[in-house]
Amino acid sequence: SSTAKPRHLLTIADLTPEELTTLVRNAAAHKHAVKGSSTVPSPLSTSLLNCTIAMPFTKRSTRTRVSTEGAVALMGGHPMFLGSGDIQLGVNESLRDTGVVISSMVSGIVARVNGHEVVEGLAEWSSVPVINALSDSFHPLQTVADYLTILEAFPSSKSKAGSLGVEGLKIAWVGDANNVLFDLAIASAKLGVNISVATPKGYEIPTAMRELILSASPTSNTSFLTETNVPEEAVKNADILVTDTWVSMGQEDEAKRRLAAFAGFQITSELAKRGGAKEGWKFMHCLPRHPEEVSDEVFYDESKSLVFPEAENRLWSAVSVLEGFVVNKGKIV
Ligand code: CP
Ligand code: NVA
Repeated sequence: SSTAKPRHLLTIADLTPEELTTLVRNAAAHKHAVKGSSTVPSPLSTSLLNCTIAMPFTKRSTRTRVSTEGAVALMGGHPMFLGSGDIQLGVNESLRDTGVVISSMVSGIVARVNGHEVVEGLAEWSSVPVINALSDSFHPLQTVADYLTILEAFPSSKSKAGSLGVEGLKIAWVGDANNVLFDLAIASAKLGVNISVATPKGYEIPTAMRELILSASPTSNTSFLTETNVPEEAVKNADILVTDTWVSMGQEDEAKRRLAAFAGFQITSELAKRGGAKEGWKFMHCLPRHPEEVSDEVFYDESKSLVFPEAENRLWSAVSVLEGFVVNKGKIV
């Protein structure tokens, strides 16, 4: 077709700091409007009226599926979940043909894939916006929800229009250098948040990814990112301790080796104490969670653990991203 190419969200690197800030703020505003007592029907409820959002997913999902389908429904549209056993993609038809055909019939595509090149290929051939719902490299919807969660947990007097007021906070990521970390680190670069990453030897951030993360800083500062193989070092002075599974989807064959390599990386209150995390530190995890990466004591401690609000915030981040990319065609205002 002769229309302009749609704008896609494949990674947080696709956003300016201002756009990321706006997506997080809009997510917060929609959360308050919908959960608040307003009886006036929100324009949100018709913003995707008569629109279909296709959801090709080649991996399992609880949060991303429920939040995306829920967001589309809240916006008056129709979510169409397409599991890998349901469609021809990857079995009987090329990415190009599937991308051209699906996008000719829907208003947006929210895709969960294995390799990042699959969501890039869909975006290349799609005539409608494609939103990455997790690839092996990135998880932008999670990052928007995570920064909404951080904004709520660390409300700041510095917070003014155009800023989240999170500058200077320190995140300690203790665990695997994976898709969730990469977009979180890119966002932290953009928002002026320090992030210290502890991984076992051999599981560090790959070089090309480190370069992408460092290049995301609008001030060309590189000191926001520090890396170590010692969990205690990462945790020092951290406001927020974060982890994720040690065995991501697609790495099941490596599970035994990984569980052995990550021994000693479990987040516990003893680790936070030994390492010298800040008084009042918080814990985050995108879920699904396994007991090896964080103790029950931390995970279920409501004074520390933000994991369930973080999960709920996936709904509001999906609303905000669909609004920005599908309703407003990539104009994030
Ligand atoms: N955090 C997250 O993306 O969870 P699901 O894999 O359940 O969607
Ligand atoms: N790193 C995990 C995140 C799941 C939401 C995975 O890719 O499986």
